[in-house]
Order: sequence, then structure tokens, then C-alpha cells
Amino acid sequence: MVKICCIGAGYVGGPTMAIIAYKCPDIEVVVVDISLPRIAAWNSEQLPIYEPGLDGVVKQCRGKNLFFSTDVEKHVCEADIVFVSVNTPTKTRGLGAGKAADLTYWESAARMIADVSKSSKIVVEKSTVPVKTAEAIEKILTHNSKGIKFQILSNPEFLAEGTAIQDLLNPDRVLIGGRETPEGQEAIKALKDVYAHWVPEEQILTTNLWSAELSKLAANAFLAQRISSVNAMSALCEATGADVTQVAYAVGKDSRIGPKFLNASVGFGGSCFQKDILNLVYICECNGLPEVAEYWKQVIRINDYQKNRFVNRMVSSMFNTISNKKIAILGFAFKKDTGDTRETPAIDVCKGLLGDKARLSIYDPQVTEDQIQRDLSMKKFDWDHPLHLQPMSPTTVKQVAVVWDAYEATKDAHGLCILTEWDEFKTLDYKRIYDNMQKPAFVFDGRNVVNGDELRNIGFIVYSIGKPLDAWLKDMPAVA
Ligand code: NAD
Ligand code: UDX
Repeated sequence: MVKICCIGAGYVGGPTMAIIAYKCPDIEVVVVDISLPRIAAWNSEQLPIYEPGLDGVVKQCRGKNLFFSTDVEKHVCEADIVFVSVNTPTKTRGLGAGKAADLTYWESAARMIADVSKSSKIVVEKSTVPVKTAEAIEKILTHNSKGIKFQILSNPEFLAEGTAIQDLLNPDRVLIGGRETPEGQEAIKALKDVYAHWVPEEQILTTNLWSAELSKLAANAFLAQRISSVNAMSALCEATGADVTQVAYAVGKDSRIGPKFLNASVGFGGSCFQKDILNLVYICECNGLPEVAEYWKQVIRINDYQKNRFVNRMVSSMFNTISNKKIAILGFAFKKDTGDTRETPAIDVCKGLLGDKARLSIYDPQVTEDQIQRDLSMKKFDWDHPLHLQPMSPTTVKQVAVVWDAYEATKDAHGLCILTEWDEFKTLDYKRIYDNMQKPAFVFDGRNVVNGDELRNIGFIVYSIGKPLDAWLKDMPAVA
């Protein structure tokens, strides 16, 4: 029986290994992590991450050919294939701080593999890493001086949160990069055989190591660029009376462009896009390509602009002051169908509103109060460095209430803003909400989930990203 061990039981390691175990009953899969609470949760009824369809898959395989353990060294030692799916955050200090990937976690995993291995192994980069990381990892592994052979493969993961199980079951492609040597090709074949249990052969792409590593950064940069493009258009739509939904639909009908990933929003979030683009920017700079670096940097700048623009619009609409006003925040996760808040635009929007002294009442169906308070009191880029967690700031705690109901959040509020596109926000009783709010009552829809005209008929003043502005909003001072 082939034995797989995955280091890192996070959003990628957990679901990916669950699907491998589910589709390959002849393979034993053990997911290991240094975090005791995380492994305990994977072994419990309440999994550590919320992902539609994940519970069923885990329950079907756990204890049969899928195991979760903190005994990292034992399972690495016994494995034929070791996936490394640890976090690769943005560096917060030192050379390349704020841009470069911090490979501390990766390097320590590689050193541990070198130390504990007693037999040859295939080591698979599952984490998103800078191009050429495999070269450094190879050096760490091959200098173990024990004569053990390691083959490094790059097998980046393209799943999106909220749809991870579907993405893993029906991937657009699986990408495997390896050395162009006979041993490298043999390793590629061994990993291909795993995926071939359920992925059609023509969808398993094989490349050299550097192409596979770079393709992952490139794919995320392209996806994020589409969102920044449509968000840039949303600002122009508001200035001209065009409707961004109509523009995006018309543009996306061009088969060369396609309809996906053209939803204007308050800004993209999530653990990947910003981190991976910053990483790409850093690599370009290090390779003497400042123009290319500048080009990709602009994708992040527009994203920051979009979040600032949203906050400025809220403040200017509400008579230029939100001091001590109650604002209801509907949605805190970075997208629907996940409880993940990493780099969610809600953090920047809430911090902006708190900076203007608003009182916030926040509701998200999947995010806990602890998580929200932690996010709002943490420094930028610290979220992915568990050891650097900042203590909560008492000011933030006082101005923020977290509630478990949209009606409670909006009661007596001056304005409500929608920051995550949860389906339930489309069908709320907005008449009831309006009746219980201060007047004039404002809706700021950062995800274009509500029907603006229906809400206007109820009496709300409505701002929707990239849509023609209400007379009220037009009369307010221009926003930056
Ligand atoms: P995560 O933070 O959820 O999980 C990483 C896990 O690795 C943590 O549980 C941590 O405790 C563990 N870990 C760190 N160092 C370890 C060590 N030395 N030994 C054992 N365990 C260790 O991160 P994630 O979201 O799963 O992302 C992992 C990687 O995959 C990142 O490089 C990310 O860029 C990439 N990625 C993420 C997504 C996504 O949607 N989240 C998608 C594609 C790729
Ligand atoms: C992304 C990539 O899609 C995935 O392939 C990669 O493996 C990891 O990074 P993820 O971050 O989980 O996945 O979610 P995604 O669906 O890409 O959304 C990212 C952000 O962009 C979210 O905040 C989402 O709301 C936003 N978004 C997405 C938009 O604002 N508009 C869109 O049209 C699409």
C-alpha cells in the first residue's frame, strides 16, 4: 500500500488529502500538523474549517485510510510521498518585509524530513511558493548525508475556498512539475498515478519545476487582475451612470474574455491573492524587472483603492460623520460559504469605520466573535504568523459588538453594509429591517446582492458598487 503523509492540516492539506483518501482506497493518507487543537478538531465532530461537502467525505474515510495526527516525524518517516502544505505567509520583517514569502515553516518542514527519513521519498510542494523554491529545498534534503534519495515535485493547488470539494473532485487541471531526469520523470509518474484514480489523464499537466511553481503565482495574479479591472470600471460606472453589472455582462460575452470572475465588489480578499501577487512583485524586483513588478503592484493598489472608496462613500453619504453612529456589518468572511477571514475586505472596511469612530454591530453566519475581535486588533500580515498574534485592543472591543442575527445587527442602526455575498442576505425581510433602523436609513451593498430598486421603494438610500447613484449620493461630495 502506498503511504502518503501531508504536513499541514489547513484549508489545503485537510480537504486535498480527504479527497485523495476518498478516491484512492488503496492508499493510506495521514495528515500531520504541529497544531494540537487543529488535529484534535479534525478528529472530532466539529472540523476546524467550514467547507460544504467536507464533513461527509472526512466521515466516510476517517479511521479507514485517512488519519490525522500530531506525530509528525513518525508518519513522515513511514511515507513514500510527503506533501508539504504549510503556510507560506508574507514576511513581516527583515529583507523583503511586506512582499517576500516567509519560508520559515517550509524550511523547518524540509529539515525535519531530511532528519527523520530512513528511506527514499517523493517530496511534493503543495504550498504556494516562490519560483525556484524547489532548488533550495532540494539542497536541504540532499545534504542529509545519509545517502537517501529525494525527488522534489511541484504540485500547486488551485482549489478555491467554499467550493474546495467540487474543485478537488472536478479540477480544471492538475499540474505536476518535476526534474527532467529519469528519476524526476518517474516521480512525476508516481504522483500522476495517484490523481489518475479520478482525474482524466488529459487534465493532468506535467511541466518542469519552475513552470509549475510560477504557474500558480501567475494564475492567482491573472484572477485577481480581472477583479481589479472590473472594480476599476465600477468607479467609472458610478461617475458616468453606467451599470457595472451590465458592462461586465457585455464584456464577458466575448468568448475571448469569458463571464467568470467579473463581479465587482468591495475588493478581493482571502489568504492567497494579495500574498501571492506581493510575492510575484518581489520576485520581479529581484530579477531586475521593475516595470513588470509595477504592473502587478497596481492590481493590489486598485484593490486598496476600492476598499477605501467604499468607506469614504459611506462616510460622505452619512453627512460626513459616522461618529458614534451604529453601523451594521452583514458578512465578515472573505467570501460566502467559508468561515475564513484571512485578508477579508471586511477588516479594512471595519477598521476604516472604526477610525471614524463608528459603533459596529457585526453578523456573519460562520465567523465567531473571537475571530472578529482578533482580526480587528491584529497588524497587517500578522494573521498568518500564529506566534505573532497581537493582544486585543480595548478600544476596538468596546466599539464592536458581534451578534448572531442580521435583524439584531441592524436594529437602531443608521446604516447597514453588506461585505460578504451570503445567500441569506438576499432574502432578509428588508421592510422589517427598515422599520427598526434610524432614518434616513442607508444600505451600502459591497457585493451587489440586494435589489437596489426594491430597497429604494421601501425607503432606503442605497449605494451599490458600480451602479448608478441615488440623487442623494450624487449630491454628496466626491469621494477619493
Ligand atoms: P493554513 O494556515 O490553513 O494551514 C497550514 C498548516 O500548516 C497550519 O495548520 C500549521 O499549523 C501547519 N504547519 C506549519 N508549519 C508546520 C510544520 N513545520 N510541521 C507541521 N505543520 C506545520 O494554510 P492553507 O490555507 O492550508 O495554505 C497552505 C498553503 O497552500 C499556502 O502556501 C497557501 O498559499 C497555499 N494555498 C492555499 C489555498 C487556500 O485557498 N487557502 C489555495 C491554494 C494554495
Ligand atoms: C483563490 C483562487 O481562486 C484559487 O484558484 C486559489 O487556489 C486560491 O485563491 P479563494 O481565495 O479561495 O481562491 O477564493 P476566490 O473565489 O478566488 O475569491 C477570492 C476573492 O475575490 C474573494 O474575496 C471573492 O469575494 C473575490 N471575488 C471573486 C470578487 O470580488 N469578484 C469575483 O468576480 C470573484
